[in-house]
Amino acid sequence: MILLGIESSCDETAAALVEDGRKILSSVVASQVEEHKIYGGVVPEIASRRHSEAIVGVVKEALEQGGKTLSEIDGIAVTYAPGLIGALLVGVNFAKGLSLSSGLPLIPVHHLRGHIASNYLSSPDLQPPFLCLVVSGGHSHIVQVEDYTRLKILGRTRDDAAGEAFDKAARAMGIPYPGGVEMDRIAEEGDDSAYSLPHPRVEGAPLDFSFSGLKTAVLNLLNNAKQKGQEISVPDLCASYRKAVVGCLTENFFRAAEETGAKTLAAAGGVSANRLLRRELTKMAQERGLSLYLPERSLCGDNAAMIVSQGYYEYLAGNTAGMDLNACAQRSIE
Ligand code: KG4
Ligand code: ZN
Repeated sequence: MILLGIESSCDETAAALVEDGRKILSSVVASQVEEHKIYGGVVPEIASRRHSEAIVGVVKEALEQGGKTLSEIDGIAVTYAPGLIGALLVGVNFAKGLSLSSGLPLIPVHHLRGHIASNYLSSPDLQPPFLCLVVSGGHSHIVQVEDYTRLKILGRTRDDAAGEAFDKAARAMGIPYPGGVEMDRIAEEGDDSAYSLPHPRVEGAPLDFSFSGLKTAVLNLLNNAKQKGQEISVPDLCASYRKAVVGCLTENFFRAAEETGAKTLAAAGGVSANRLLRRELTKMAQERGLSLYLPERSLCGDNAAMIVSQGYYEYLAGNTAGMDLNACAQRSIE
């Protein structure tokens, strides 16, 4: 079964063709990141406009690169939540139009479920159940993937998402948006013990995360140094901050693994491309004799192939939609 997928929840317009949820035939991503960079973050109105301009070309290219016409496709999967509402609506309305005119089934896909499914593309042998650390620009969750379409949140962030925590601290250090990516690169050259940062925990909820205190600690450190005329080493601060964020993520994730007795682990979302996070997860899983799956780094960020992969399993579970499908800015992965 070949499905076409469309993703437009944030600043990437993407389309892809995937066979049986696992084999990528084509994957096209048009990124707007350069345009948003000058504003230090995504400007929702600009994002919606660029999606509208790009979507026809991106879908055409995905069909062309996959060597298929619409008549050879079995369904259309589309991200309907969560994300920027104006951005989501472009993809949802385009998919609805295509479904109406072609008669193909319309399959709504939750963006974070899609991130988890990037693992099905990278690892053909991976099957639920497994425990997944989902870390993106807008969300940080520990998710129990009981089945392809039955998911349960065990831990979540109380304030900033992991990607947001990286981006905001990076911005304070003068690193352009999306700072998480660049901070990870710079941190490789730094001394991670140069600055001492807190390790925030959430009272009474050991699987939940809180990153705002960590971000404030960096802002205070930068302000104090400025007032005293002291030099800050950006590589050292990046390395120390990255170690602190990754420490919070891995501590809670392996605690959840222990509590649930999970033997198979995975990670997903933009932040799962983080080099230190990948090294630490690999090391800690090995020490505990657990299997760990990581998406290829090229599939960690937003793309439509992951949306089709999850869409395939949603379709098999009978989760299709009619012309009343709407986009939702917020909706739980459950
Ligand atoms: O999953 P994603 O592409 O979009 C959302 O669904 O939000 O995640 C984007 C986030 C951004 O905050 C970006 O800075 C972060 O993922 N990110 C990274 C890395 N690559 C992307 N953060 C840390 N290290 C990276 N290598
Ligand atoms: Zn995403």
